[in-house]
Amino acid sequence: MPRTAGRIHRDGLTATATALVAALEAAQKDRETAETLTHPFHTYPARLHPATARILVELIGDGARGPLLDPFCGSGTSLVEARANGHATIGVDLNPLAILVARAKTWTPPPRRRRTLVDTGHAIAAAALAAGKAARRSAADPAPLRKPVGFDPNARNRRLAAWFAPHVRRELEDLAARLDELRDDDAELADILTACLSAILYKVSSRTSDTDSTWTNRNIARGQAARLFAQRVDLLAAGLTDLAKLHAPLPVFHELDIRKLPTVVPDGSIHGIVPSPPYAGTYDYAEHQRLRFDFLGLRHRALDEGEVGSRRGFEEDFESAHRSWQKALTGILARIARALAEGRAAALVIGDSVAQGRAIYALDDIRDALPGDLALEAWASQERPMLGTVERRAFGPRPKAEHIVVLRRT
Ligand SMILES: C[S@@+](CC[C@H](N)C(=O)[O-])C[C@H]1O[C@@H](n2cnc3c(N)ncnc32)[C@H](O)[C@@H]1O
Repeated sequence: MPRTAGRIHRDGLTATATALVAALEAAQKDRETAETLTHPFHTYPARLHPATARILVELIGDGARGPLLDPFCGSGTSLVEARANGHATIGVDLNPLAILVARAKTWTPPPRRRRTLVDTGHAIAAAALAAGKAARRSAADPAPLRKPVGFDPNARNRRLAAWFAPHVRRELEDLAARLDELRDDDAELADILTACLSAILYKVSSRTSDTDSTWTNRNIARGQAARLFAQRVDLLAAGLTDLAKLHAPLPVFHELDIRKLPTVVPDGSIHGIVPSPPYAGTYDYAEHQRLRFDFLGLRHRALDEGEVGSRRGFEEDFESAHRSWQKALTGILARIARALAEGRAAALVIGDSVAQGRAIYALDDIRDALPGDLALEAWASQERPMLGTVERRAFGPRPKAEHIVVLRRT
């Protein structure tokens, strides 16, 4: 969610709309929340602003501790806030990387287990550093590259080779091989540490960022990947210690298409929902994470096929892509209505976008897709700057905006 200030419009129930305005403004005014808990652990495209999530979780939680759901949990921003408020939480996302990261950011087992995380992470980093030094001294052949199940090793190697300096790649593969070994004994801990490796992966690669796939030159010293990995373990552990201060059960996660939500969440069982669904035609989560999928060995066919609102889905004919998006949105809102207990609410953060030179107004689409058992209680919209001629032409006199919408189950 961008931090650019813009005019805010609101409507609906006054108390709710006032909280939504505060949630939008918090993304510009609040410089602290994003640095608390586990929020700084891992980048993620179109991450919800943690200060916005904090206000929405308080609004939707409404002082009670019933289960909160984020069916597009991404890196888990809402879930971290919900967990910090003592809620039981459920995270759903079709992206395996999202589940890996969100699980790590909300992992609050007893303190002894979290100490094991730090000790094991440091031991793995130290072993990788020592192995690198020993290999340089003896000029021995490097260890063979890993072969994650489900990936053609030659194709994987070709795709990865361009993005890492050879010494960085060897060090990363060594760290990952040690995590593979750990997985045989302790899969849970291996997954949390894999999220730590994922958090540093793009920083030691030549990929500019998650959302920018251009090549950039980074000089990464020998040993730096292992040291960054150990630092990331410490950062996560410190955030988890703060998060664990209030008792709450460990979150439950499902790597699942939201359209299958009723298979894992009983009807009427959810106290509140705080998601930011994809913005139509704006991001390609499958592409943004491809380097991580390849390196870590995460299978992603379901995401490639089922991602809703993806940019690639809007590449062909606009009318049919927009119809598919509206159909998907109708399905999403119907699933949200089914999951909510009567009288409980969802706060959705969603933005306008442009595809093929045409404006897509998110609030209009939500109104059109609303099922009979969800009422639009309030909304607030903040104008966003239009970037470049294409956006200015597409939006014309009706400005582009980002919205928070509260929908209540009747
Ligand atoms: C805007 S992001 C959510 C970001 C999240 N709020 C955060 O703070 O990190 C939207 C998410 O929707 C997920 N997604 C896309 N299509 C999906 C589908 N069909 N079912 C479930 N999740 C999906 C993407 O993988 C992405 O993580």
